[in-house]
Amino acid sequence: MALYDKKGPYIIKEEAGVRFYCMCGLSEEAPYCDGSHNGKGTGKTPYIVRYAQEKTVKICGCGQSNTLPYCDGAHNPTKE
Ligand code: FES
Repeated sequence: MALYDKKGPYIIKEEAGVRFYCMCGLSEEAPYCDGSHNGKGTGKTPYIVRYAQEKTVKICGCGQSNTLPYCDGAHNPTKE
């Protein structure tokens, strides 16, 4: 499943460490970058974040969020 094929967010309990979230929508390892943005003219690069401790995050799966890579409820504005 590509990144923006979902109707809702990826809810992930991330361990401490660095994550590379896909920002182009082409990754086959969504929501993480798999390098598919390279050489495809997307002009996109992954969003890189370091979590100092375990954290549960909601990563956008629909591509409509204004706070990418995080979900802002845009997939269903009446429920979030
Ligand atoms: S594969 Fe989408 S940003 Fe890297």
